[in-house]
Amino acid sequence: MGLHTPVLLDEVLAGLALRSAGRYCDATFGRGGHTAAILAQLGPAGRVVAIDRDPEAVAAGRERFAGESRLTLIRGSFGQLKGLLRAAGWSDGLHGVLLDLGVSSPQLDEARRGFSFMHDGPLDMRMDYESGTSAAQWLARAGEREIADVLFRLGEERFSRRIARAVIAARAQAPIATTRQLAELIAGAVPTREPGKHPATRTFQAIRIHVNRELEEVEAALPQAVELLEPGGRLCVISFHSLEDRLVKRFMRREAQGDPIYAGLPDVPVHARPRLRLVGGAVMPDEPEVERNARARSAVLRVAERIAA
Ligand SMILES: C[S@@+](CC[C@H](N)C(=O)[O-])C[C@H]1O[C@@H](n2cnc3c(N)ncnc32)[C@H](O)[C@@H]1O
Repeated sequence: MGLHTPVLLDEVLAGLALRSAGRYCDATFGRGGHTAAILAQLGPAGRVVAIDRDPEAVAAGRERFAGESRLTLIRGSFGQLKGLLRAAGWSDGLHGVLLDLGVSSPQLDEARRGFSFMHDGPLDMRMDYESGTSAAQWLARAGEREIADVLFRLGEERFSRRIARAVIAARAQAPIATTRQLAELIAGAVPTREPGKHPATRTFQAIRIHVNRELEEVEAALPQAVELLEPGGRLCVISFHSLEDRLVKRFMRREAQGDPIYAGLPDVPVHARPRLRLVGGAVMPDEPEVERNARARSAVLRVAERIAA
């Protein structure tokens, strides 16, 4: 069912500061690379709850970890982290939460998932293909302005307007139904080339982030993760592009500072006190890791520790 090489594995294990009998949440299970390494370091009393919204990830996980009684695997979106955990009988008091954001290698490599302009397939791009709107459906309905805005904001695509115009013109002739159709349309609309980058890279990234509501999901998950951690518990987040990393960095900083309105005042109400302590700065993969795994190239890990409010 496809393989995924876990990114920044040693750094994540160190960041989580694992305890043998700890309770951990891997909110982006994927193919279970990080989960397997965490379980290997836990004792018999340790527990992991893992989440993924991709039905194939969960199916592969159930097979791989059949008989692993310390693991609870849940299908769902981490934007609903607290509700999912509560429904599975897990409450707060976690010792660590991991978010390894973005898509997995099997998602990118399987043509039928429609994530990649390298493989021709149906233009889907949903991590959970059983709900929401596919990329093809969105491109069939969205207005020119909306398309241009998404490509500019989420793909930092400077030819967003030209591409949006080309999409509107093309769909008036026939639906844009495959990844190849979209990739060729973009290649025709973009006048220049970035060295070493396919002209469709930015557009595919933008549409993927949009149809999966990736930034909204991260924004929703981060405060819930903090609430689930007990003092001393660790939050580890790996991002793969600057929009995501900026969001994580700002969130952690804000939570480490507390509400600035109360700065310097003697009595700070509980809700305005810092809830996190930053643990080091941004961690990037070293050269050997990037050589071994090109997909690690853009990874950035940030770690913070829950403190008593
Ligand atoms: C980079 S992969 C994780 C790989 C994993 N750490 C491993 O070692 O195999 C990201 C995974 O998170 C899942 N995912 C992304 N956003 C999600 C969300 N909002 N809710 C639940 N799962 C999500 C994706 O379906 C994908 O399987």
